[in-house]
Amino acid sequence: MTKRAVTYSTYLAIDEILAAQHPLSSGPDGRPEHDELLFIVIHQVYELWFKQLLHELAEVQRMLEAGDTDTTLHLLNRVLKILKTLVAQIDVLETMSPLQFTSFRDRLESASGFQSAQFREVEAVLGKREASAAAAQPEESDGRARIEAAQSRLSVWGSFLRFLAARGHALANDVLARDVTLPPEPDERIQDVLVSLYHEDADGALVAERLVDLDEGFQEWRYRHVKMVERTIGTKRGTGGSAGVEYLRTTLFQPVFPDLWEIRGRL
Ligand code: HEM
Repeated sequence: MTKRAVTYSTYLAIDEILAAQHPLSSGPDGRPEHDELLFIVIHQVYELWFKQLLHELAEVQRMLEAGDTDTTLHLLNRVLKILKTLVAQIDVLETMSPLQFTSFRDRLESASGFQSAQFREVEAVLGKREASAAAAQPEESDGRARIEAAQSRLSVWGSFLRFLAARGHALANDVLARDVTLPPEPDERIQDVLVSLYHEDADGALVAERLVDLDEGFQEWRYRHVKMVERTIGTKRGTGGSAGVEYLRTTLFQPVFPDLWEIRGRL
C-alpha cells in the first residue's frame, strides 16, 4: 500500500476541525443566527489554548523540578503570551451585543464555560483544590479523571518550592512534605524565604516574578470575562445554573500563589 503524503490538511486535521461547528439556532430565514458561529469558534479556540497551556505548564513543572532556570523562564514567558492572547480574544466576543446573544442563548440550555474540564484542570495544576471541580464532570469521563489526577499531584507552586529548596533556600521539611491534595494557604515561613530570595537570588527571584505575572494574568482573564458577561447578560442567571455575574464576582482577586502577594509590602 502506498503511503499517503503528509499535507497541510491531513497533518493539521483541518477537515475535522472545520466540520466541528454545529450552530443550534434557526433564524427567521431558517439559517442559524449570524453570531452563533463566532460564539462557537471562540470557545473552541479557548479550549485549544487551554490544551496548550496544560502542555506548557506540565513542562514548566518538570523544568522547575530539574532546577533548569533558563528553560523555566522561557516556558513561563510563552505561558504569559498565551494568557495575553486569551484576554485579548475577549475583545472579539464583546463585539456581540446583548440582543445578538439573546437571539440564540436559549439554545445553549444548561451548557456553560462552567463545565469546561480543561479550565478546571488548569486551575488544579496551578494549585486549586476543590472536590466540586471533578464532581461537575460526568462520571468516568476523561475530564473528571484528569482533574482528579491534577488535584492529587504536586501543583506548579509545589514544584516552585522544590526548585527553591534545591537552590539552597531553607524551607522547612513539613512545608515540602505538605499534603499535595490540600489547597494552598499563606504560610509565613515560606514568605520569609521569599523575602530573602528577592534579596539574595536574582535568578530565583526572576522565576518568582514570572509566577506573579501568571497569577495576575489569570486574574485578569477572570475580570475581563465577568465584565463581558455583565455587559452581555446583566444580572440574568447563568446557563450553567449559577447567579451569573454575582457568582463570577466572587472568583475575582483570588490569587493562586498567595504568598507571592503577601510579601510585596516587605520588599
Ligand atoms: C457571551 C459570552 C459569555 C457569557 C455570557 C458567559 C457567561 C458565563 C456565566 C454566567 C458563567 C457563570 C456560570 C454559569 O452559571 O453559567 C460563566 C462561567 C464561565 N465561563 Fe463564561 N461566558 C461567556 C463566554 C465565555 C468564554 C468565551 C469562555 C472561554 C472558555 C468562558 C469560560 C467560562 C468559564 C471557564 C467559566 C467558569 C468560571 C468559574 O467558575 O470560575 N466563558 N460564563
